[in-house]
Amino acid sequence: MPYGPEWRLNRRIQTSLLSTRACEAYCILQDIGSKQLSYEMLTADNFTTPCHRFTSTVAFALAYGGGLRTHYNQAKELKDIDELTSLGFQAVSIGSFLVDIFPILDRVPIFFSSWKKSAEQIHENMRQKFTKLYDVALQDQTWNWARQALKKSETQDLSHEQRAFSIGELYLGVTHSNHIVLEVFVMASILHQSAVQQAQQELDSVIGSQRLPLFEDATKLPYVNAFITEILRWCPVLPLGFPHRVSTDDEYMGYKIPSNSIIFTNQWQMNMDEKFFDNPDCFEPERWIQNPDLPLSAFGFGRRSCPGECFARYTLFIAISRLLWAFNITGSNKDDLAHEKAAKESGRLGVLYRPSSFGARFQIRSSEHERVIKLDRAVADEERMRALEAIGKTLFSE
Ligand code: HEM
Repeated sequence: MPYGPEWRLNRRIQTSLLSTRACEAYCILQDIGSKQLSYEMLTADNFTTPCHRFTSTVAFALAYGGGLRTHYNQAKELKDIDELTSLGFQAVSIGSFLVDIFPILDRVPIFFSSWKKSAEQIHENMRQKFTKLYDVALQDQTWNWARQALKKSETQDLSHEQRAFSIGELYLGVTHSNHIVLEVFVMASILHQSAVQQAQQELDSVIGSQRLPLFEDATKLPYVNAFITEILRWCPVLPLGFPHRVSTDDEYMGYKIPSNSIIFTNQWQMNMDEKFFDNPDCFEPERWIQNPDLPLSAFGFGRRSCPGECFARYTLFIAISRLLWAFNITGSNKDDLAHEKAAKESGRLGVLYRPSSFGARFQIRSSEHERVIKLDRAVADEERMRALEAIGKTLFSE
């Protein structure tokens, strides 16, 4: 969406739903979801499915409500949206790059330009999906973002379709970026066992083996936090950020930038800059402890920076601290890491980076850890619905 009045309205709605206070209230859903995630990892033969289920279930409950699954084919809708999103990200990257390099393409009639056709088709399919989900969410009996956003006076200036897109965009933000960061976490853990051991030593001394890590433990776990920040630096999921169009002629460091140019912020290069990061290729969480003021580009910059940073940080902390606490994570072949290294190098690059597929083994660290996970599994749908009601009441006085 280009910068302008519609973007400003949209941003106001999104930031009100993602304020620090709101994110604190949402922690209960991440708590329930990450208990289920740890439980599923005890027996899962593929780690990506539980990670995806975790991020999409939390996102779906917030965006569209907890009661939907009783009368709506949630699994099918989510699968369709996932497929559309992957196609969407491809179309955005191909289209934007080509138009940037060959501006003449932007004037090609639509029937000659296959990427334009596919982008329009994807947009239309998404419009239909988002609107359908939004309409059902407005009727859902539990509190949700769709209903909450409608109460804001400023949303009256947006059309029904624009509101549906605003909530859909948040749903995608919550689901996809966090899901891919969790995949990168698994890859980093396989490739950097000594960092994992250091994180586990910290978890063992602060938490012990009789309970799961909690949100309240975050300040007592500096190494775990540094581990998460290093994941975001070492392998950014948006290596070039989102493309932005310059609205007026500009100049930066002596370079003239004509209006309408497309600008990418090269996160990958920034994260590998030796001026800031010694041995930038190495995975070294301690760099963030030694120097907490190091620059982190993962969430973008300025007024278009990511509105979901606080939410993302809570999600990553609770999921990653619990998985590190509970499991030793190894590759499919413990003595040969070539496959995982190749998966990092050959990850798909476009707007979004995702490692190529790789396998992982999650081995529970002790029978005591297993007992706690089984005991703490509290994921009934009613519980999620009660959590949503509580959020609605305490935060938005519904
Ligand atoms: C670790 C997870 C995440 C990462 C690394 C991430 C990163 C980013 C980045 C780099 C941008 C582009 C900033 C720019 O163009 O300068 C962005 C934009 C955005 N993100 Fe995130 N994000 C994450 C999670 C989330 C979550 C959880 C949400 C929603 C709850 C979200 C919603 C958005 C939205 C709506 C935008 C577009 C902002 C705009 O155009 O004004 N993101 N994100």
